[in-house]
Amino acid sequence: MKKLVVLTGAGISAESGLRTFRDDNGLWEGHDVMEVASPAGWRKNKKLVLEFYNLRRKACLEAEPNKAHYRLARLEEDFDVTIVTQNVDNLHEKAGSSKVIHLHGELFKSQSTLDPGLVYEMEGWELKLGDKCEKGSQLRPYIVWFGEPVPMMEAAIEAALQADVFAVVGTSLLVYPAAGLISYTQPAIPKFIVDVKIPDVASIDNLIKIEEKASTGVAKMEEMMKKFHI
Ligand code: APR
Repeated sequence: MKKLVVLTGAGISAESGLRTFRDDNGLWEGHDVMEVASPAGWRKNKKLVLEFYNLRRKACLEAEPNKAHYRLARLEEDFDVTIVTQNVDNLHEKAGSSKVIHLHGELFKSQSTLDPGLVYEMEGWELKLGDKCEKGSQLRPYIVWFGEPVPMMEAAIEAALQADVFAVVGTSLLVYPAAGLISYTQPAIPKFIVDVKIPDVASIDNLIKIEEKASTGVAKMEEMMKKFHI
């Protein structure tokens, strides 16, 4: 089976009712990113950070995968699919994707502040000040904050290097190292980008641009892959 690698961003979850980061009324509006998504912000005001992610977790509990998530999951019938997502929601898994690499962490997990290797599944939506891990240290959101290393990037690069087909769905490609993943693909393989407003992707070879919302654009991508026997 051919290997399909798909890099996704907040845009794929927009039709599920989850806000993106940099569109109008984006998640970062009204928030100083560094106050809620950086180690300094955590040190300064743990309660504010915990509340920010509790609200996002609550919104995610009510969100369902949309057609774009389901279509990508169904592509596993024809391809060996690896989803590399910047999203911290669990909509790819809920839609049935079986291989999902989360570059920026996962909302429904928490992590020990003293031993980052201790990661826990969360049942509900609330992580409170005082919630402790088994070793007694405060639990933090299992999110990669700005300025922190991206441990899953190595696995993502490994997948991109071996990809026969590469797709980008719903990301502004502004945040590295995720935005640089496409540059690890073999120049000759077919690449797709699906976005309501195609970001600047200068000088990427064999790139097919589909300027549509994710649910429509992923369907068009599927049609093109069938039509051109990709
Ligand atoms: N269908 C397809 N694309 C969409 C849709 C939609 N319905 N709605 C918005 N988009 C596109 C926007 O045009 C934009 O290109 O999705 C992209 C969203 O970009 P961002 O808001 O920047 O989100 P993302 O690229 O995922 O951000 C990357 O930045 O803040 C950090 O860690 C955070 O993972 C996040 C990272």
